[in-house]
Amino acid sequence: GITRHYTFNIRLQNVTRLCHTKAMVTVNGRYPGPKIFTREGDRLLVKVVNHVSNNITIHWHGVRQLLSGWADGPAYVTQCPIQTGQSYVYNFTVVGQRGTLWWHAHISWLRSTVHGPIVILPKLGVPYPFKKPYKEVPIIFGEWFNADPEAVIKQALQTGGGPNVSDAYTINGFPGPLYNCSSAKDTYKLKVKPGKTYMLRLINAALNDELFFSIANHTVKVVEADAVYVKPFDTNVVLITPGQTTNILLETQNSHSNATFLMEARPYATGQGTFDNTTTAATLEYHPNPNSGNSLKQLPLLRPKLPALNDTAFATSFVSKLRSLNKLQVPTNIDKRFFFTVGLGTSPCPKNHTCQGPNGTKFAASVNNVSFALPTTTDLLQAYFFGKSAGVYKTNFPIDPLHPFNYTGTPPNNTMVSKDTKVVVLPFNTTVELVMQDTSILGAESHPLHLHGYNFYVVGQGFGNYDSLKDPLKFNLVDPVERNTVGVPSGGWIAVRFKADNPGVWFMHCHLEVHLSWGLRMAWVVLNGDGPGEKLPPPPSDLPKC
Ligand code: C2O
Repeated sequence: GITRHYTFNIRLQNVTRLCHTKAMVTVNGRYPGPKIFTREGDRLLVKVVNHVSNNITIHWHGVRQLLSGWADGPAYVTQCPIQTGQSYVYNFTVVGQRGTLWWHAHISWLRSTVHGPIVILPKLGVPYPFKKPYKEVPIIFGEWFNADPEAVIKQALQTGGGPNVSDAYTINGFPGPLYNCSSAKDTYKLKVKPGKTYMLRLINAALNDELFFSIANHTVKVVEADAVYVKPFDTNVVLITPGQTTNILLETQNSHSNATFLMEARPYATGQGTFDNTTTAATLEYHPNPNSGNSLKQLPLLRPKLPALNDTAFATSFVSKLRSLNKLQVPTNIDKRFFFTVGLGTSPCPKNHTCQGPNGTKFAASVNNVSFALPTTTDLLQAYFFGKSAGVYKTNFPIDPLHPFNYTGTPPNNTMVSKDTKVVVLPFNTTVELVMQDTSILGAESHPLHLHGYNFYVVGQGFGNYDSLKDPLKFNLVDPVERNTVGVPSGGWIAVRFKADNPGVWFMHCHLEVHLSWGLRMAWVVLNGDGPGEKLPPPPSDLPKC
């Protein structure tokens, strides 16, 4: 492979949407941010220079970071933040992966505006397992807040209540024509020729919502999820949760020349919680198109049919169609089994405060009833690998929930969680089976759980309480989907397997930003092995200090 250099200047840029102009934190003034383009086997050197008053870090979501944990990016987990005026070079090689991934800020809520695609082509001369598309187009879903998202989460954490929801979803940065005060110029337009195959690289960068996506009058073929090929299948609607990426093939039709169609996305939401239930849209414009450039409101636009907001039947059937294409090495001898509950709970309201969470408490979120606290004076990776762990974290993360109960029945009397910095330590090459059970204690919502540093195999999924005797009999060890982010269904469970063959400290968390902020996060420490190529190298000299 070759080495590719990028410079990310973090700076403020005025951006206008929905008739609101605000200065937002961007990379190189772009929203969404620039595309990283690479090939399997190449090395990337991305110099990030911070010109804003916020601290920043960048995470390369889904990149395995084999032996390069110092470049992973979550603040206080693998690095201290890059402070104003400082810079840091993220240095990593893309090993064994090709497809669509993405990058985003990994501190506070800055990822709402600081994110962009990573396109990894196969090695030179290696074809796709499908016909080469005529064109490839990244499609990023996001959320637009008229307010500053940093102020939104700050207020939510202070009051202990839920944050204000966004004002619009976006497609490649644009809300589209279905919003008030949004127009043709606030609409992303995909111009296509008839009779061709386009590959759309879908990325869900929205902060807090799983999304349904559909294109009017077109069926698409799903070919890849989280940069792993899947057995192709046709669908009219794609479900994509925050953190996930999905490649789809779109065949344009000769019979459609001159026509314009809408592509739309809106949430899949199981609970009655407060969320933005609006719809973002972009246009698919066939050439030649005499209408191009006209006001969208005057066009007879064809709109897709999206499932109902709470269509769990569709969501479940979509997810069950995702099967890995290539032969896999799913671990069958399991060294360690873990059962984690994931969900919402409460924490005490500080004295002399009025809190807006349930019964005057603060909302909290947890894994096994521990709400994970990030360190503030160092990062976990330096603390662990350089023997400075004393007082920074504990290694007694509970391997089972502290208060078991019926996860789908009446909530327990005590919804309080503890707050601590606890990790799970795994010897090199441990094979892990992890069952994640949604608790549905407060509000029924599914949780997109994301693991850094690894892909996992999703071997099982179900509703109700996980049954450790019966459910494993139904696990798919033949062609389970391999990915880095999986939706733990509301009122249900997910079982994943992975082999801990990448030493470092690896964050795992809900990719709904509000749940991440409330503490639905934990960290795995994977120890060095004894052999060559089994040790994390020492940190780079420019690694930021806290
Ligand atoms: Cu895409 Cu830890 O996140």
